[in-house]
Amino acid sequence: MKEVKNIDYGLEKIFQGAQDFLPLLGTDYVEFYVGNAKQAAHFYKTAFGFQSFAYRGLETGSKDSVSYVVKQDKIKLILTTPLNSKSPINEHIVKHGDGVKIVALWVDNARKAYEETTLRGAKSYMEPTIETDKDGEVVRAGIYTYGETIHMFVERKNYHGTFMPGFKKWESDYNPSAIGLKYIDHMVGNVGWGEMDIWVKWYEDVMGFENFLSFDDKQIHTEYSALMSKVMSNGNGRIKFPINEPAKGKKRSQIEEYLDFYEGPGVQHIAVATNDIIGTVTEMRKRGVEFLSTPPDEYYKAVPLRLEEHNHHLGEDIEKLKNLGIMIDADEEGYLLQIFTKPVEDRPTLFFEIIQRMGALGFGAGNFKALFEAIEREQEKRGTL
Ligand code: FE2
Repeated sequence: MKEVKNIDYGLEKIFQGAQDFLPLLGTDYVEFYVGNAKQAAHFYKTAFGFQSFAYRGLETGSKDSVSYVVKQDKIKLILTTPLNSKSPINEHIVKHGDGVKIVALWVDNARKAYEETTLRGAKSYMEPTIETDKDGEVVRAGIYTYGETIHMFVERKNYHGTFMPGFKKWESDYNPSAIGLKYIDHMVGNVGWGEMDIWVKWYEDVMGFENFLSFDDKQIHTEYSALMSKVMSNGNGRIKFPINEPAKGKKRSQIEEYLDFYEGPGVQHIAVATNDIIGTVTEMRKRGVEFLSTPPDEYYKAVPLRLEEHNHHLGEDIEKLKNLGIMIDADEEGYLLQIFTKPVEDRPTLFFEIIQRMGALGFGAGNFKALFEAIEREQEKRGTL
């Protein structure tokens, strides 16, 4: 039997402060282009506990598209669908299926964010645009990142309304309770073969981010599949964007599968934080969210040793974690609990991660290895490895 070893995180450096030409206050919203926003909004309310927040559509004067905004603590999702065949949103949906179009970043000065990034080579998506209503003004400006994905800078310091001009408050009679999702911990992008370092450099040069952690295919692999990943972080650490690219294995990398079905680079998963992963995942399972299969017993047997290696003590009941399929990873600073949903649309593309950090700064890379090694040990017992 192979021993589960402490994974080398490749921790290059703890972030020491990047150039601050692009101060980011946090994630503002994530906008999805979807085939049916009404039904998508119902799904995120029912299954993920998001609350009705804002609406834009025919009733508010929007002739071409409808958007529902749902909110849970600091997380805001916009679900947008076109109302006719002429809307350019259709092309995005035809090509990619339902997916993330805009990762909006909250800034104090959207014009400056746009100027600084375009000056450093960002391709423009939307020049600084002021939108106003009786509650004030919002300034937005957008640039392209990988694939057809957009970073929108949102300046809302002079706005006091519900969400943004053009939207009205969305009041619904259907209000399933929240499930404890707090904020977006990180959002992962998948890019093509050999493109990871190009986008790492783009985030460094254009956005002033730094490479916070790196994982190579020696760390994230099984006998059959591999991937490489570099985590980019902004100066204050509030925004973390890991970038993945596929690596060669005996079989098709999971990243390659995403690229095939999304038909290009895009957002692979959104990790949302909770303070009570047992409560959150119990509720999600009850509400029909599907998760990746539960790791085998072998995996959980190895957990105490993995934590001991870092002198951490698990504060949760391991039986409960096991019953829910929640995985545990540890690093120098602490441990983390995490679980991955299955893709939330029919194409095997975007999925969610639920994460509870108990001090750990990592992203659960130890779980890939531990999980896959545990599976392989099971195979070994069955003589099928
Ligand atoms: Fe993640």
